[in-house]
Amino acid sequence: MNESSKLNFLHANNGKYSFHPMGHPAEVETNPPRIMDKGEGVYVINEAGEKVVDAVGGLWNVNLGYSNAKVKKAISDQLDRLPYYSNFKGTTTPPTIELAERLVDIMKPEGMAKAFFTSGGSDSIESALKMARQYWKMQGQKDRYKFMSFKKGYHGTHFGGASVNGGERFHRSYEPLLQGCFHMPYPSLYRNPFGITDEEQLVETCLKLIEEEINFQSPDTIAAFIAEPVLGAGGVYVPTHSLWQGLRALCDKYEILLIADEVVTGFGRTGEWFGSRYHSVKPDIMCLAKAITSGYFPFGAAMVNDRINDAYMNNEDAFGGMFHGYTYSGHPVGCAAALATLEETFEANLAANAKEVGSYLIARLRGLQEKHELIGEVRGVGLMMAIDCVADRSTRAPAGKEPMTAVADHAWEAGVMIRVSGNVIIMSPPLILTKDEADKIVDGLDYAFGKAG
Ligand SMILES: Cc1ncc(COP(=O)(O)O)c(C=O)c1O
Repeated sequence: MNESSKLNFLHANNGKYSFHPMGHPAEVETNPPRIMDKGEGVYVINEAGEKVVDAVGGLWNVNLGYSNAKVKKAISDQLDRLPYYSNFKGTTTPPTIELAERLVDIMKPEGMAKAFFTSGGSDSIESALKMARQYWKMQGQKDRYKFMSFKKGYHGTHFGGASVNGGERFHRSYEPLLQGCFHMPYPSLYRNPFGITDEEQLVETCLKLIEEEINFQSPDTIAAFIAEPVLGAGGVYVPTHSLWQGLRALCDKYEILLIADEVVTGFGRTGEWFGSRYHSVKPDIMCLAKAITSGYFPFGAAMVNDRINDAYMNNEDAFGGMFHGYTYSGHPVGCAAALATLEETFEANLAANAKEVGSYLIARLRGLQEKHELIGEVRGVGLMMAIDCVADRSTRAPAGKEPMTAVADHAWEAGVMIRVSGNVIIMSPPLILTKDEADKIVDGLDYAFGKAG
């Protein structure tokens, strides 16, 4: 097929033969997705050769940008050597052993003791929830099966993750979901359900409600609380350290496990290596994915601390086995990709870059607020940020679909790829972003907001 017939083929078939996550298939067919064809540093290039700064970073994951030679080489070397072998009982591979040791070492400050490898974020969440339940069975407390989480939280789309997700659109189409999941209000200051304007007071209120619910459910029925250290897909809300420290204290008080969903916040995105470290909190389980391979290979892990590892190690009855796993758990190519990604991430100290360039970008975006009425609030930490768009600043009524689509289209015209979720623009650019590239994002958005009115 020559270039032009290939393009015709792509345009004729785009959106017709595959479902697109989070999209309505009829809408996808009439308004087909952008076709991304190449990547270079922080830029992506579509099938027509248009090159834009990827302010989305793939999907929160391409921390090293699109052309990291070391990760690509590690993947191809491993493909040449051994493209696959199973990690089920009885066999493993060298990179799988190496990565597990490396992760436990990196996560010593959080007290992590062992890794369970997965193929992505939803798998990591599912594994964490199942291990939490199994932990309590091993402890002889089989009534502890319930999960608590936050409204607005996002934990992937498997049945377990969907059940603890805080958005009703993830529930309604797939119910009945897991029994015993309870969703608590999130202390999101800009859009909080109580009209409280003092953040610490809001956090205190939410923690009180959580404690009340724990007691109402009875603590000895609750397996775990799962939350994102910085709430991501639900609108990038950066909580106070007191929220996370308060959560840890409540979990300790009632012996509940704390699961940190670090699928987005892991590996430097917040400006710290992990979101839990940012809050100075040690969870019992930490879910990883996305940036662990910079998106170059589907991969993830659920890490557990000694409390959970010891329970497995010391259990002698039938419940002590790990009767859970995926064909691709510990995939050697994924492990090789992860090892190279970690090396690159640490060598370039990308967490520090996320902190520095992130605070520069957030400050510059806040500067746009004075010029453009559509911008209600800019919030974020490190290189994860949101622009909450409003139809009316005084009421904070969310902006409608039309202006949001217009901003995204005009941003593309100006050379910037952004992601719109409802009335919120979510950005998570590669962590290699420079200040010049951050300026390009701001200038592109300035143009886009100006055009969208
Ligand atoms: C916090 C969080 N947890 C879990 C997931 C699910 O990860 P995946 O899409 O790789 O299954 C996501 C995906 O965006 C996420 O943001």
